[in-house]
Amino acid sequence: MSSSPASIPTHVAIIMDGNGRWAKQRGLPRIEGHRRGVETVRSIITASRELGIRYITLYAFSVENWKRPQAEVGALMGLLEYFLKKELAGLVKDKVRLLTIGRTQDLPETVRIHLQKAVEATAGFTGHTLVLALNYGARTEVVDAARAYAAAVASGQASLNDSSWESFSRHLYTAAIPDPDLVIRTSGEMRISNFLLLQAAYAEFVFTPVLWPDFTKEDLAAAVDVYARRERRFGQTSDQLKPAATS
Ligand code: FPP
Repeated sequence: MSSSPASIPTHVAIIMDGNGRWAKQRGLPRIEGHRRGVETVRSIITASRELGIRYITLYAFSVENWKRPQAEVGALMGLLEYFLKKELAGLVKDKVRLLTIGRTQDLPETVRIHLQKAVEATAGFTGHTLVLALNYGARTEVVDAARAYAAAVASGQASLNDSSWESFSRHLYTAAIPDPDLVIRTSGEMRISNFLLLQAAYAEFVFTPVLWPDFTKEDLAAAVDVYARRERRFGQTSDQLKPAATS
């Protein structure tokens, strides 16, 4: 892990893809790929903490994933519950705060109970944050934010004369989370799949062919190294970003 602290992204968001293909390559049921994917989740949470990444967001279940076979959806919910039960002590020990983004109110009750417990138990930690995107979709997020903004205007807490992004973005699920600096997608697919569309406006993207169950801390460090070599311009020119010459 060779990146200098200055080049470590504050927030890394990951589209964990390739569990199904990993299983298929081995003649295993898809759920085995997800099970191995959970092991990767555990090791990548630790690795990101060790690298000094303060926020990590994992795309664990999208609003579109409900369309998968019912057995797979049920298995994913079961794995999520298993993960929350098993990892809570570790999150507390490592002082990792858990947050969620998405319409979590529509998740099964057992999952909601464990989520709430974990979120409450870790709420006081400030050093590292794990964000789970659950029943998340960027388009539904915009719809929810627009509704919340309209309600704030109706109650006089927001004004229609205020057309700033800052005011609107306070109503996104991510209001308390900085924008991702780096978005990683595993498995060779090069799509954003309705993930953090607004927040990733200036993110750097790294696509890796590695399937999620095989993704290691070395792969994470390699993605961070690629990120560190990129020039982020935020709409400016390269020359503008150079330190002013001293005469
Ligand atoms: C994409 O692989 C992966 C998912 C839709 C689910 C990701 C879930 C986990 C890693 C496990 C649960 C998460 C937590 C946080 C406990 P895919 O099934 O689309 O793979 P494929 O494209 O190869 O079929």
